Amino acid sequence: MFRVAESDNDEVAIVTGASSGIGEATARLFARHGYRVVLAARRKERLEALAQELSGADQQVLATPADISKLEDIQRVVAESLKRFGRIDVLVNNAGFGRLSWLEQLDPVTDIQALLQVNLIGLIWMTQAVLPHMIERRKGHIINVASMASYIATPTYSIYAASKFGVRGFTDALRREASIYGVKVSAVYPGGVATEFGQHARIQRKTGATTPDWLKLSAEDVAKAIFRLARRPRRQVVLPWLMHFAIGLNAFLPGAVDYAVQKLFVEPEKLK
Ligand SMILES: NC(=O)c1ccc[n+]([C@@H]2O[C@H](COP(=O)([O-])OP(=O)(O)OC[C@H]3O[C@@H](n4cnc5c(N)ncnc54)[C@H](OP(=O)(O)O)[C@@H]3O)[C@@H](O)[C@H]2O)c1
Repeated sequence: MFRVAESDNDEVAIVTGASSGIGEATARLFARHGYRVVLAARRKERLEALAQELSGADQQVLATPADISKLEDIQRVVAESLKRFGRIDVLVNNAGFGRLSWLEQLDPVTDIQALLQVNLIGLIWMTQAVLPHMIERRKGHIINVASMASYIATPTYSIYAASKFGVRGFTDALRREASIYGVKVSAVYPGGVATEFGQHARIQRKTGATTPDWLKLSAEDVAKAIFRLARRPRRQVVLPWLMHFAIGLNAFLPGAVDYAVQKLFVEPEKLK
């Protein structure tokens, strides 16, 4: 078992998308450090297995199967969390997926609308459902899992980037709205992470271009960054650190980046 049994930490963290990848690793880390953790995602069996693994006799971990695209599910997760634990200290908005394809190949409803509904609207609804409780307590921390695609938009990531640029804008605005109440709002911006993300993304590429293995993060790397943020709130974390250079290059030399992307990715994909 992974949990630290003797901890006097009684804080409560909700982690969305806790059935795999970054969310699962984050839930493990918070539980290990004595947090009481609420797991939310659609795959009930995975959540229940994880809750059973992490929970001690004192039932520290609650599995709440939920579809983050549905308002009634979100409201139920928050109500069940408060009923079981009486407080919410940290919300990790992590649930999300990609549809990495050329725009003309994406379905308007099952790809485009569905992605924005989970990655952006669901994240906003979840935050809105938790915020009044945090404002009332004058305490709380909302941590959004954004992406390098919140800063750098690349071909086949158009809708995903739209959702993650949205998460970045939402995070920055809400941080400035909520700080007066003592509520912290942060985001993590990871590059490529080795998770199940790629299996659900329906990637359509001929070249096989992807994040090189040496640059890929593990789910645990991102979970550690989220946990450190929860312990020591900051505006944001970009990881790996090297990605600050890519963000700077994209911001200050966008024409050069356009040209490089055209030559190295779009032309090999579209013209060959
Ligand atoms: N992997 C990367 O390269 C990468 C890079 C930067 C940012 N991110 C972001 O990191 C987050 C986690 O992704 P991951 O890499 O850990 O991928 P993952 O292993 O596929 O995990 C995605 C999680 O989101 C949940 N989810 C998806 N749709 C949902 C819905 N409608 N309702 C509730 N939960 C839902 C999934 O659970 P169920 O299927 O059980 O519902 C799963 O737990 C995402 O927001 C992603 O955009 C990933």
